[in-house]
Amino acid sequence: MEQPDFRSMSFYQIWIRSFCDGNGDGIGDLYGVYDKLDYIKSLGVDAVWFSPIYPSPNADYGYDVSDYENVHPDYGDLEQFRRVLDRAHALGLKVILDLVINHTSDEHPWFLESRRGGEGPYRDYYFWRDPRKGKKGKRPNNWTSQFTGPAWEYDEGRGQYYLHLFAKKQPDLNMDNPKVREEIKSVMRFWLDMGVDGFREDVITFISKHEKLPNGIPWLPVINGMPYYKDGPNLLRYLREFRAVALEYGAIQIGEAPMTGVKEALRYVAGEDRVLDMVIQFDHMTADCFYTEFLHHPFSLRKLKRAFSRWQYGLAGKAWNALYLENHDHPRVVSRYGSERYLRQSATALAAAYLFQQGCPFIYQGQELGMTNVRLPSIEEYLDVASHNLYRMFRHVSPEEKRLLRVQRSSRDSARTPMQWTKGPNAGFSRGKPWFAVNENYREINAEAEEADPDSVLNFYRRALALRKGNEALLRGEYREYEPQSRTLYMYERRGETQRILVVCSFSDRAQTYSLPPDYPAEAGELLLGNCPEGGRAGSLLPWEAQVLRWR
Ligand code: GLC
Ligand code: CA
Repeated sequence: MEQPDFRSMSFYQIWIRSFCDGNGDGIGDLYGVYDKLDYIKSLGVDAVWFSPIYPSPNADYGYDVSDYENVHPDYGDLEQFRRVLDRAHALGLKVILDLVINHTSDEHPWFLESRRGGEGPYRDYYFWRDPRKGKKGKRPNNWTSQFTGPAWEYDEGRGQYYLHLFAKKQPDLNMDNPKVREEIKSVMRFWLDMGVDGFREDVITFISKHEKLPNGIPWLPVINGMPYYKDGPNLLRYLREFRAVALEYGAIQIGEAPMTGVKEALRYVAGEDRVLDMVIQFDHMTADCFYTEFLHHPFSLRKLKRAFSRWQYGLAGKAWNALYLENHDHPRVVSRYGSERYLRQSATALAAAYLFQQGCPFIYQGQELGMTNVRLPSIEEYLDVASHNLYRMFRHVSPEEKRLLRVQRSSRDSARTPMQWTKGPNAGFSRGKPWFAVNENYREINAEAEEADPDSVLNFYRRALALRKGNEALLRGEYREYEPQSRTLYMYERRGETQRILVVCSFSDRAQTYSLPPDYPAEAGELLLGNCPEGGRAGSLLPWEAQVLRWR
């Protein structure tokens, strides 16, 4: 089957637990999603990506799947999912699901069987290894988990260690076992047969491990084994097998690829025989940190722009970018790269900075409202396993208050507070008691208030997405960056057949002037979109002003 024209599309990501609670038990669900599909459609997006909705013990909030072919009872059931799918399709929205296949939950029946050992069919579904005699801890190798601590857990029953690149409750599947790959294909078919339009594939570049599982770099925490499991030896082959299934249905595949660079990415996403349509890369998510938000440094606009341009130039004419600034794994972008003081302007300037690049925009729930980080008063109130592990890891380095500050700034829980719909009780998210803290700024930042305000962040997103959609230069034009050395503005061009568009974004709390590139006469520029009603003059910018200007 033919693939849809995914290149013109934009995507809205739902992290269901915090999106909208339809039945009043305090947990977001598919009833709530159903009611909000019109809202999603009104943004001007073309597709919805659901973070996992499957049954899960929630050790990693859905990314530990215990049944691939069902819906978590907290969220509804398969019937309700079908209703959501049909309604989304009727509205012209595609639906893609998260395919989490690097690991399962330790409560998945495959793992329960596998840990019993013996000669059963599930014996080699995971990475089981004997303890290493005489070595400290006796673990099979020195790899650490992405969530800190050793990547191996001893299982008494089987008398062996199993590998988990993430939490203990997320054992890695042994993709080298052809039976496991057949299982994955049948999971894909299950959803594709139902009418799902594609997948976002979780840490997909980790699924092929180096055969010998050699020791990693001993002094490097968290990612020491990475050279032996990232972009591994059989990755392309396995992805090609999955691709064949997806293509039977014309399905879209977007792969999450942590720490993958342009060169590696092109192996997956370039050309007609590509194995993925886009990758979710992480380069631009480290403009204020090293590798993870927990290793913070002051925000550097130049680092951000270098990352943007590296991918824009690197994929030009060869492949298509996935554009994003937020998802469920990162704190809120206004609080990181923007300015909470200039909330409205910086949220919209950030939008302009990425939505008009070449690629498909992804918008994470609440980002379109300018939702900010939450600052919970104690570590106990945070729920994310990765945040707790990092908090513990820093215990020898810094005192409690400092570690809490670190969590407040860096935790992915900031992206997981309930969606702010109204200024009413619980931000309109639930008529029950929300499962997680609501950000106290919901009285000012909420969809209802922004709906009524033409200059809101929400309405800016709508205008921006509509503009992109109807404009050939913004969809397919060539990207070029200007003023790369500037520490206060980001300027890029999209050059189409009949027009040139210049996007200029201030990243500063102060007003500034700028020079237009040589062949851009100021008087001929036409303002297509701006975020400051009092601004809009080519050559000067108010604090956090964004201008989208056109020359014919
Ligand atoms: C991906 C997910 C993240 C999860 C991890 C392990 O990075 O986006 O939420 O914790 O994989 O599944
Ligand atoms: Ca509910």
